[in-house]
Amino acid sequence: MKPDLSAVKLCVFDAYGTLFDVHSAVGPHVQTLGAQAQSISMLWRQKQLEYTWLRSLMGRYVDFQQVTAQALSYALQAHAVSDATLEQRLLHSYNQLASYPEVAATLKQLREAGIATAILSNGSPAMLKAAVTYAQIGDLIDQVISVDDLAIYKPDPRVYQLALDSFGVAKQQVLFYSSNAWDVAGAVNFGFHVAWINRFSQPPEPLSHAPTLILDNLQQVIPALGV
Ligand code: LAC
Repeated sequence: MKPDLSAVKLCVFDAYGTLFDVHSAVGPHVQTLGAQAQSISMLWRQKQLEYTWLRSLMGRYVDFQQVTAQALSYALQAHAVSDATLEQRLLHSYNQLASYPEVAATLKQLREAGIATAILSNGSPAMLKAAVTYAQIGDLIDQVISVDDLAIYKPDPRVYQLALDSFGVAKQQVLFYSSNAWDVAGAVNFGFHVAWINRFSQPPEPLSHAPTLILDNLQQVIPALGV
């Protein structure tokens, strides 16, 4: 059955993995990192996420910039890479991530259809500003919302509530997009309509009931919204 998304007035996007390709950070450094580049990038992302969950559970928030730096440091040590300059360069590259090819067109189409757009992300305000500026999508996004003021990470329900508070809309008026299955579970659990952008054909996580839509890229949501 086709989901009824007629009440949707606001599309909220996760940032890292959904709009921005986190693995593009190692791109400029592949030659230096050699055969370990992909493995380092995967562990960097895995540890970055783990640290957000663990710090939330411990009540020991530090911002996503610091979490990202600490995760990179771990990933490099685990691969026996010791190079402070390279480490700084990799971190800098995280502010210049490639955006997925359909991002700008999708945001533009939503805006033209009168639907508000937002980013809701673990990223610190400075990191998100850098990523949005680098991707040249600032004009296509109504609000960039960071968890930083709350000092807790997704999937804490208070994070998803931030989007409602910022726009003064109800849960059923929001369509949340994420490529991260755990974030999808968090948003479904909160009560949003959710589009899982399953870019890498991963199996579902058994953490919530199914999302409203499961698609390969952001653009495919447009027909489902009927705009
Ligand atoms: C984000 C990360 C977790 O919140 O993908 O943008």
